[in-house]
Amino acid sequence: MEFVKTKGEVKAEIVINGAKKFEKYGFEGKDGEVLVLPDRKKIYVAIDELNAENIKAATATIIKSLKKYKFESVEITPPNTKNENILIAFFEGFMLGDYEFDKYKSKKAKHPIKKIAINSKRDFDEIINEAKVRAGAVNFVRDIVNSMPDEITPQKLAEIAEKLAKTNKLVCNVFDENYLKENGFNAFYSVGKASMNPPRLIHLAYKPKNSKRKIVLVGKGLCYDSGGLSLKPSDFMVTMKSDKAGAVTVLGIIKAVSELDLDIEIHAILGAAENMISGGAYKPDDVLIAKNGKTIEVRNTDAEGRLVLADCLCYAQNEIKDFDALYDFATLTGACMVGVGEYTCGVMGFEKEKIQSIITTGEKTGEHFAYLPFNKYLSKLLKSEIADISNIASSRYGGALTAGLFLSEFIEDKNKEKWTHLDIAGPAYVEKPWGYNPHGASGFGVDTFVTLFKSL
Ligand code: BES
Ligand code: ZN
Ligand code: ZN
Repeated sequence: MEFVKTKGEVKAEIVINGAKKFEKYGFEGKDGEVLVLPDRKKIYVAIDELNAENIKAATATIIKSLKKYKFESVEITPPNTKNENILIAFFEGFMLGDYEFDKYKSKKAKHPIKKIAINSKRDFDEIINEAKVRAGAVNFVRDIVNSMPDEITPQKLAEIAEKLAKTNKLVCNVFDENYLKENGFNAFYSVGKASMNPPRLIHLAYKPKNSKRKIVLVGKGLCYDSGGLSLKPSDFMVTMKSDKAGAVTVLGIIKAVSELDLDIEIHAILGAAENMISGGAYKPDDVLIAKNGKTIEVRNTDAEGRLVLADCLCYAQNEIKDFDALYDFATLTGACMVGVGEYTCGVMGFEKEKIQSIITTGEKTGEHFAYLPFNKYLSKLLKSEIADISNIASSRYGGALTAGLFLSEFIEDKNKEKWTHLDIAGPAYVEKPWGYNPHGASGFGVDTFVTLFKSL
């Protein structure tokens, strides 16, 4: 998709807050509503308020409507604002709206809109470039997460990471199942051991010359989560290809950050495994020794993400010295979706300010985050009679928090304040399209964290 300064065949306009003058067409100007004039010369899309979320959704909607009405080009005036986030969102929306996952369809999606004409005297080159990088990373995440589990095995994910490392000049190290087994990553190893596709720990690093900060990202990469011996019911198993979204998100973030040449060092650690069943599967009643020596009683093999992440968090803290912040991304709990809904990411940690900055940044990029606060009563719920900790809580309530608290047991005291956990179980995968997200993987989190890191 190209942005040019010439005129387009149809004009598009984003109408903010109602539209009396279109009453005769029955267009009320409700948020997200579209009107194509009968002469096919003009298309309107309404938004309630000018913000990044609405603008991204509006331009995404314009692209979808143009395709539907078989137009080939369009001319549009960007919003009259100096707000960079809104302008980036404006351009990004077109590319997010043009996304269709057609890999497994005989009939491939058409992308008829090749040119968007921008009616403005202003120079948007830099903004457009950044929007392209961001949308490129979001759509990259969508493509990988949407791909079927038989294709994206842990080894395949490692190959994708290696390929990205090559093109973006990143350092990439891949550790196999033998490394995990021989080096005490027993929790991670156990989760993956039933599958014929063995686990991989993938470590990518982007190290610019004059880096101001060092950030570590850890992602849950369950290429498939069948639940293991605590098998998921059939209806809950469908969509579990998306359980790798945390890992793929950190891949998307490091991709975008390196393409924007931001001067911060980023490490992305992906814990890739398949939670499957076989005679060699790990079992409820097993006791696993994590890399930091803590013993974990397995009471439910479907609470596998936290086991993989526990060891990845240990790896990160052992291998990366003097980092400023550590974020983990995971489709960790159904409870988080119950708690905050499918559009919102649950954020946990011990440093309220850090969490607040994520929430505020999300408001600038159009992604929703909610703070879920730990308290002193929760930890007793993870007590085990036979090991240091149980992998599930004894209460039905507060499952997102107890999962987050479980992870905190693998954060060293000196790093407690540097760590933030992001449960993306809701927004990572879209079953009913919303906003600028089509069905399937959303690429949630990339935009907000690129903006956050840009602000450091
Ligand atoms: N991958 C799931 C969480 C999940 C559920 C993500 C639905 C996206 C949509 C995770 O591994 C899991 O199964 N968690 C269990 C934990 C329970 C056994 C304590 C859950 O949420 O039910
Ligand atoms: Zn699970
Ligand atoms: Zn899972």
